[in-house]
Amino acid sequence: MSNADDIFDQAKGSIRRLGLTEIPFTESPTGLGSQTLDRIFTGRENELRQVFKSFQSRERRRILIYGRIGIGKSAFLLEVLSVLERKLKETLTTYISLPPELDLATTALIALAQAMSDDDWAQQQLYKMGIPINKQLKERTSEVGGNMGITAKMGEKDLPIIAPEYPSVSLDTLLQRAKEKYPNGVVIAIDDLDKQNPSRIRQLMYDAQGMLKGPAWFLLTGHPVSMTGDLLTTERGLFDLRLPLEELDFETTYKMLINYLSSVRINNDCTDPDDPRCVLPFLPETAAQFCQVSRGKPRLFNRLGSIILSTAADLGADIITPDVLRKGLQTALPTLQERAALTFKEERVRAFLQRNGQISDETITIDDLEQLGVRTYAELLPVLERLEAADLAHQPRQDDTKTFEPLALLPSDIAPE
Ligand SMILES: Nc1ncnc2c1ncn2[C@@H]1O[C@H](COP(=O)(O)OP(=O)(O)OP(=O)(O)O)[C@@H](O)[C@H]1O
Ligand SMILES: [Mg+2]
Repeated sequence: MSNADDIFDQAKGSIRRLGLTEIPFTESPTGLGSQTLDRIFTGRENELRQVFKSFQSRERRRILIYGRIGIGKSAFLLEVLSVLERKLKETLTTYISLPPELDLATTALIALAQAMSDDDWAQQQLYKMGIPINKQLKERTSEVGGNMGITAKMGEKDLPIIAPEYPSVSLDTLLQRAKEKYPNGVVIAIDDLDKQNPSRIRQLMYDAQGMLKGPAWFLLTGHPVSMTGDLLTTERGLFDLRLPLEELDFETTYKMLINYLSSVRINNDCTDPDDPRCVLPFLPETAAQFCQVSRGKPRLFNRLGSIILSTAADLGADIITPDVLRKGLQTALPTLQERAALTFKEERVRAFLQRNGQISDETITIDDLEQLGVRTYAELLPVLERLEAADLAHQPRQDDTKTFEPLALLPSDIAPE
């Protein structure tokens, strides 16, 4: 065995010492169409209830799911689709992340065509757009859905796509064809509308009104500042259900931790919250602290969890004691910062936020703005959102989208409840 083989085994050994087969935490939901998400998905019962209720109707519905960066929009969407896929007979469910530069009708057309892999006309449409089909498609795209008719997530490298001249006409034709095989309908889920700028979203939605009123079910996701703030007020009639996703409460976060850990734990699949073994290799005390610093934000929870476990593995620990947790959390801030690869300007804002403890349009002075190299607070918002996306800043209040605070990670920084 080579030296590198040994090192691989040691790395594996240090995770196994924690009683785990692997680190279960991931930045984004993995295993589209696999069973992993079903196993770890936690909470959101009310939101699920509302979505599923609207599916108990013959009338096609348009649903907008919105929430802040990393709150769990994609995971929620995929979990909904996975249930619909199992429960709705003769219905086709499709998923796509909105590609840059494309309109919604073309995006829906691609999602649907990719899910109808044995329909020649559908494949022709993809081919005409310059989208690789079948085998080729799988090689070129980063994430390809498995059995569920959930389709590929397209990366920028797949562009430029040659958009059809009349995408809504082609989409209608395709929906007609889909109807033969899926008489109960088609669900088209378009994720990540928020990754576009607000004025573009407005235009996209405006152009898509006809499509949204058409015969398919639509599930769209976005984020309150860049799109929905606007849409919620100006396009009220466009959606039958507008569903906000918020931070998970402590109890749900704790349950989520149990689910993640039990999905990878060796010889112990305890999930009873009253049994301390359910959070191993955490202790109930450190599990609770970890949940508290994650603030019910699923992306942050996953990032911190992954850093804590790998720190514990590096230390050769088999239990996450308060001391191991503290070391993990101390590593977290520099790790998050390094991963964020901030620009000079972003770093300047981050440092300012750290020093000030808070930043908001009410308290910021003209001097501050000048120091930060901007003229208005509005110019700072994209930078602050970038910091939020990297979990280097957060918004203490849901309804106030203009106040940001630095993230407090060490238990000692967190005020007792
Ligand atoms: N309810 C949940 N139960 C378990 N895991 C979740 C839940 N919600 C989200 N996650 C996990 O948290 C991480 C971040 O969630 P997700 O990617 O869905 O957030 P998002 O809102 O789509 O983020 P973005 O704004 O970047 O698109 C993922 O690993 C996801 O699987
Ligand atoms: Mg997402």
